[in-house]
Amino acid sequence: MPATRKRILVTGGAGFLGSHLCERLVSAGHDVLCVDNYFTGSKDNIAALIPNPHFELLRHDVCFPLYVEVDEIYNLACPASPIHYQHDPVQTTKTSVSGAINMLGLAKRLRAKIFQSSTSEVYGDPSVHPQTEDYRGNVNPIGPRACYDEGKRCAETLFFDYHRQHKLRIRVARIFNTYGPRMHPNDGRVVSNFIVQALKGESITIYGDGKQTRAFCYVDDLIEGFMRLMGAADDVTGPINLGNPVETTVGELAQRIIELTGSRSKIERRPLPVDDPVQRCPDIARARSLLGWEPSVPLETGLKRTIAYFDRLLAEGRATSAIAAAK
Ligand SMILES: NC(=O)c1ccc[n+]([C@@H]2O[C@H](COP(=O)([O-])OP(=O)(O)OC[C@H]3O[C@@H](n4cnc5c(N)ncnc54)[C@H](O)[C@@H]3O)[C@@H](O)[C@H]2O)c1
Repeated sequence: MPATRKRILVTGGAGFLGSHLCERLVSAGHDVLCVDNYFTGSKDNIAALIPNPHFELLRHDVCFPLYVEVDEIYNLACPASPIHYQHDPVQTTKTSVSGAINMLGLAKRLRAKIFQSSTSEVYGDPSVHPQTEDYRGNVNPIGPRACYDEGKRCAETLFFDYHRQHKLRIRVARIFNTYGPRMHPNDGRVVSNFIVQALKGESITIYGDGKQTRAFCYVDDLIEGFMRLMGAADDVTGPINLGNPVETTVGELAQRIIELTGSRSKIERRPLPVDDPVQRCPDIARARSLLGWEPSVPLETGLKRTIAYFDRLLAEGRATSAIAAAK
């Protein structure tokens, strides 16, 4: 048990990242309140925690005010993959903006420290590589991704205004592509897509020529970054990039997954979707110097663990669409 057991609220705690964070916080000896409306999250993700007396679960939509007593807040609630956030774009913006206002209001009342899971999408289709936190981005405000990108940008604005105006202790992490067990099997994200297609022996769909790069961070590394940022001195507000700076092309990733699954899948090419960034890679110098953080799990190790998870999910017949399940 830590020197001081804290009461910690995790919004979006039944999602991919949230469930790993809840686990880490409970095992670090804290009391965790997980708040989720199950739009893309699932009770399966936190099933192992439910019997634990230091874990509580509340069905709630962050677009509405919440009155609870906690010491720290991690605000993760928001659908994160294009398929999910474009399903109901107005709700996506509401979740980012109203959700941030409600959680910041709660933090202000409680004088609680609050963490925002922002995203590399605030950089849009970047014209500088790798992206440093000073880069202001290249976002199309009226495109199909804007509900997410601009919602997250506005949430960052709110966090910094609450910090300047109300002296709130804030932490803003700009998260880059993260993968690992409990990703949604049908969320259209490249790692989950490729693994599920490879395991089913279906063609692996690559959008564009496959030369676009992505940098993939394993979930355990990312959660370590969250905890270090939350535990850092109060002048470390962020924004701070958290992600893996090792770039891989989408084509290479497909090849690695085919090898690791021993699949016979073929590669199928489709046109690039609108506003899809060609290259995305974090500069993590700030995280290295301020948090002493950098990813340590190699892609192959992380992929093997993720493949094992999806293999189990498919065997249990649980790989259905998260949106269909949420309806
Ligand atoms: N996974 C990544 O690679 C990545 C990258 C950048 C940023 N992020 C951010 O991290 C956070 C978590 O992402 P994730 O990958 O775990 O996605 P996820 O979809 O698995 O988790 C989001 C969770 O929020 C819940 N939620 C959505 N709207 C809500 C609402 N209005 N009220 C309450 N709960 C709501 C969902 O049900 C789900 O459990 C998100 O804020 C996302 O923007 C993730």
